[in-house]
Amino acid sequence: MTTAQPVAHLPAPALRVLHAAAEVYPLVKTGGLADVMAALPKALAEAGADVRLLLPGFPAVLESVLHARTVADLGAVFGALRVRLLLATMPGSGLPVYVVDAPRLYRREGGPYQAPDGAEWSDNLQRFGLLGWVAAQLAAGEIDTTWNPQVLHVHDWHAALACAYIADHWPTTTGTVFTVHNLAYQGLFPHDDWVLLGLSARFMAPAALEFHGQLSFMKAGLKFADRITTVSPGYAREIATHEFGCGLDGVIRGRSSDVSGILNGIDDSLWNPATDPALAASYDRVNVGGKAACRQALLRDAGLGEADQALLIGIVSRLTAQKGLDLVLAALPRLVEAGVQVVVQGEGDGALQDAFSAAQRSYPGRVRVYIGYDEARAHQMIAGADAIAVPSRFEPCGLTQLYGLRYGTVPLVRRVGGLADTVADGITGFVFDAASAPAFEGAVLRAMRLKRDDPQQWAAIQQRGMAQRLSWQDAAQEYLALYGQAMASRKARPRRH
Ligand code: ADP
Ligand code: GLC
Repeated sequence: MTTAQPVAHLPAPALRVLHAAAEVYPLVKTGGLADVMAALPKALAEAGADVRLLLPGFPAVLESVLHARTVADLGAVFGALRVRLLLATMPGSGLPVYVVDAPRLYRREGGPYQAPDGAEWSDNLQRFGLLGWVAAQLAAGEIDTTWNPQVLHVHDWHAALACAYIADHWPTTTGTVFTVHNLAYQGLFPHDDWVLLGLSARFMAPAALEFHGQLSFMKAGLKFADRITTVSPGYAREIATHEFGCGLDGVIRGRSSDVSGILNGIDDSLWNPATDPALAASYDRVNVGGKAACRQALLRDAGLGEADQALLIGIVSRLTAQKGLDLVLAALPRLVEAGVQVVVQGEGDGALQDAFSAAQRSYPGRVRVYIGYDEARAHQMIAGADAIAVPSRFEPCGLTQLYGLRYGTVPLVRRVGGLADTVADGITGFVFDAASAPAFEGAVLRAMRLKRDDPQQWAAIQQRGMAQRLSWQDAAQEYLALYGQAMASRKARPRRH
């Protein structure tokens, strides 16, 4: 007779997830991708996953990560004389981070994608091909024998090539998820350069990476990832249409059962008016008083006339065609005449920079424009303004309207993508439809009148926005469910060879 042994309830082993991307706040940031890469892995780790990051070894990354040690010497690959894989610790979150140290490709002055003169780096194919290749090798357990991910989550075209390498070379059980943060940036390169990637010939075909005679990194993710996500349900629907598909809507429709949208959240440790160190005064939903002090400080710093009645609009944005800021410029004369004040901070397109600078000269004391990038001022503007305008032509998710909601700064947004998913007209903000100056102007004037004529209703809109649940915890749960699907679909599929 055997005696029953007590059953040990061991906790399930944590799911191993690797996030590969080109940006992470505060080390390298050109936009919202960096914010997501700082917050999502942290939220997944808090939900119990065993999460690591993979980043290119840009100077800011090498200078900021802690306790770096070499995991593997990868030799001379992708035109780099020497490539090493380091394992280090992220400052802040303390998560483990792999860093691809390829001095010849990554250690240089300038942005992650562009030289200081604004031109794309001429060797971006090698720079981001390498990132994808290392991610695929890690997935296959080829480089680090002590840890390999069960799920590889790659972000934007910069890391997408990992999905093609996995499909080409390595039999792996690792499930892959590709997140499209912005379909407009596709990583297109000359056809002939594809030989530098070392992929099998069959990959340079329209059914794989070829896109109208060019080579597309984006297509590597769209064609070969087990699951594809975008950063809002609305944008997930839009990219399957001709209007928003950037020429890839057919490819996306072909994967329709694998595409979904998961809304970004707010990182409370960075964007919370109760604890934000950049603000002149702190406040929250119950004690909103500090917001008036932030408004005063913003008006003073911006050199704008102080008028309690005026609607003070903030805009914090990359200056690109995507963001619809030409609508703001076109509406500006009438808005200023109506008593609206505008503070803009942004950088990017030279013509937009010039046009906004000219607007500041035309409307002294009413319009203030900061050309450049300043994280602290972005917080001060989002806290101090009455409303935040995001009139985008398309917007995969958009984070500044979320920050506006959290800071009691009423969003004025176009009904598109993630903006439409997060702002409700007349409930939490003001939403307009047409990408036209009159439509934008109409929304601003509605907001201005409500604030002036019905302060109680205005306060109610602020209150509902501040109470809106926009949490990375919820998003993390959705991603975990999706990771399960990605792994299951990989197991169900024969090895791709
Ligand atoms: P996108 O990623 O398309 O630029 P998002 O709204 O998702 O748009 O994210 C933009 C992020 O970049 C936000 O964190 C915003 O505050 C920040 N940002 C954009 N422009 C500037 C700027 N000029 N100065 C400071 N922060 C900026
Ligand atoms: C992209 C999108 C933006 C989104 C961000 C983070 O940059 O343009 O809408 O919020 O990625 O996902």
